[in-house]
Amino acid sequence: MDREALLADARGKRAMVVLLTERVDAELLDAAGDRLQLVANYAVGLDNVDIAACTERNVMVTNTPDVLTEATADMAWALMLAAARRIAEGDRLLRSTQSWIWGPEMMLGHEVYGRTLGVVGFGRIGRAVARRAEGFSMRVLANGRSLTLGTTVPGTAAEAVSLPELLALSDFVSLHVDLNSETWHLITAERLAQMKPTAVLVNTSRGPVVDEEALATALSNGTVFAAGLDVFEWEPAVSPRLLENPNAVVCPHMGSATVDTRTAMGMLAADNLLAALRGERPPSLVNREVWRRARP
Ligand code: GLV
Ligand code: GLV
Repeated sequence: MDREALLADARGKRAMVVLLTERVDAELLDAAGDRLQLVANYAVGLDNVDIAACTERNVMVTNTPDVLTEATADMAWALMLAAARRIAEGDRLLRSTQSWIWGPEMMLGHEVYGRTLGVVGFGRIGRAVARRAEGFSMRVLANGRSLTLGTTVPGTAAEAVSLPELLALSDFVSLHVDLNSETWHLITAERLAQMKPTAVLVNTSRGPVVDEEALATALSNGTVFAAGLDVFEWEPAVSPRLLENPNAVVCPHMGSATVDTRTAMGMLAADNLLAALRGERPPSLVNREVWRRARP
């Protein structure tokens, strides 16, 4: 739906199921009017939804956590391996039908096994990415809001470190924060310069967490070795400067794109919707104060 059609169609609705490509703001909420009780986001990330504006209007917001954790963690690993071992570049070489022959120095990448993985944002998905590192005998460093620096994160083998320390020590840096005013451009030119020149940056979170132009520069200068990206700063646009770099592995936001996960997300969005319409508490309610306010 284009914006005009959406604004017109929203009028008088009791609930909306929205995709992450839809901006849910005061304008849309006001267009819907005061019958609106629920916005069910078909995504775990909620940066497209103005939660404060919903709460103010007593509109409940839900997302789709948990059901996409493992698929997204798999995607981060797919990008790590692809970027480190130049999988997409090799695929392009063969498709170009250029002649090639095996050689000792052909398409050299970097080891994954035994190296250090830095996970930035240690929530559900970050932890699922870290768990997989055990199979690759990796040291895991973690950075996240609720972690105590210098300790091992309870229930994991990950060491909590500051972001500068994580960037300096990691061979792979994987981003799993949600996008908010504090994480916008978390990865700047300065932060990229703190990484090892052999390191790989992976982003399956939200594009604007990384300064995309700075990353394009870092990739062409050899400041970092490669990047695996599932999300982009100006999505669906991808910076042409980024695409000039053969060492950027790029995918069109498909972290949760498996048959099982997308089905589970749809079922969860539907459960949230039906619960709200029945007057029950939606299972993945985000702004609980709306519920408490209505039932003191
Ligand atoms: C996808 O990006 C999601 O947030 O679910
Ligand atoms: C490579 O293919 C090898 O056999 O070492």
